[in-house]
Amino acid sequence: MQLAEADTVKCEPEPLNKALAMLRPLLSKWRTKPVLVNDKMEAIGNSSVCYALKVLGTKYIPVSRDESEREVPLDLLDPYWEFRENTSRARVFDNVVKLLYGNWPTPIVKLKSLSNKSTTVWAKLEWYNPFSLSVKDRIAWYMLVKAFEEYGEKLRVVYEATSTNTGLALAGLANYYGIKTKLYLPRTAQKCVDYLFKALGASVVRKQASITTEVIDEVKEEALRDNAVNLNQFENDYNFYVHFRYTAKEIDYQSRMAGFTPDAIVGGIGTSGHLSAISFYFKSKYGDSVKIFAVEPKQGASIPGIRRVETGMKWIHHVAVDKVLEVSLEEAVQGVLRVAGEDGLLIGLSAGAVAYTTHKLVSEGAIEGDVVVVFPDHGTKYMEMLEGVLSEESREQ
Ligand SMILES: Cc1ncc(COP(=O)(O)O)c(C=O)c1O
Repeated sequence: MQLAEADTVKCEPEPLNKALAMLRPLLSKWRTKPVLVNDKMEAIGNSSVCYALKVLGTKYIPVSRDESEREVPLDLLDPYWEFRENTSRARVFDNVVKLLYGNWPTPIVKLKSLSNKSTTVWAKLEWYNPFSLSVKDRIAWYMLVKAFEEYGEKLRVVYEATSTNTGLALAGLANYYGIKTKLYLPRTAQKCVDYLFKALGASVVRKQASITTEVIDEVKEEALRDNAVNLNQFENDYNFYVHFRYTAKEIDYQSRMAGFTPDAIVGGIGTSGHLSAISFYFKSKYGDSVKIFAVEPKQGASIPGIRRVETGMKWIHHVAVDKVLEVSLEEAVQGVLRVAGEDGLLIGLSAGAVAYTTHKLVSEGAIEGDVVVVFPDHGTKYMEMLEGVLSEESREQ
């Protein structure tokens, strides 16, 4: 058996279902058999193990020419190498793309506003991403990188339906790479974001009240018609994979370093990319002892970034979630105010929905131990909405 740099081993990609079926035992055993390779370092035989290790992002892949070789522990393959190498104290980056992934893991911090005697709540702060100041930088980057691999120089224009954050991330990254963006926003997105997109030079189409499966299909068709590429965050598996390889593995790495295994994880669902990947990673590796709670808006409520399960999302249906909980806009604002008032962090509205739900679960004793919550973005982005909710007039009404 030999440890080969992962990039030097070649294997074919697998469809999502097959990749997940391969990843589950890999994570639960945290061991793998070496990949059988030929002289050109092409995987032969158990090639799906090779693909699964690439999805997980280990630094090394164990290779062998002998089928009888024993399993090796994944720790030997350096699964957390990217986070270790990213701890440059000087924080100097060669370019803005390296600034994005070179800053990972994003921080996790203990919150007193949501913890109590028997529960410690750790928040993962996703506004520490440079383009959209949100969790969506991750998918915009990965989907673009993978599209470059597929289309090369032909990738000149990107069309995407977005609630705002994916659009901001794509518009920023696209400018760095010299490509154009056309974004389809729901009418409910704040008016002021049009100026952010104007500043970034992206064109914006607003016609639908919310992003529905019809809108997603419409964007697909328009991109096809105009020779543009629709990355389609709602169906593109790199959305799930980037959160699996980074967001989920970061939480695993960070909690290991802090000396705990999460007892529960709470997050919002929009495309369902980040929470599904986190659920898949943790349930596969640690079993059902890690409870997963998903947060969706109450029927009729509009909370930017999150949607109701029945509006159509892909990955949530491939993974286990212990409970889906509903939150109104007013409750999300209560969550924002709780964290702002006691910890001084001004979190975004979907983060507020997560905070509200977590506080409720913790106070009811439904969760205890170490709880990780994902805060997708920051409150300064919602000035227009906060004005609407918190202004004197609306209070009087
Ligand atoms: C502010 C905010 N919160 C939550 C989400 C949901 O994340 P995901 O699409 O990974 O489910 C998004 C996605 O757009 C978002 O922008």
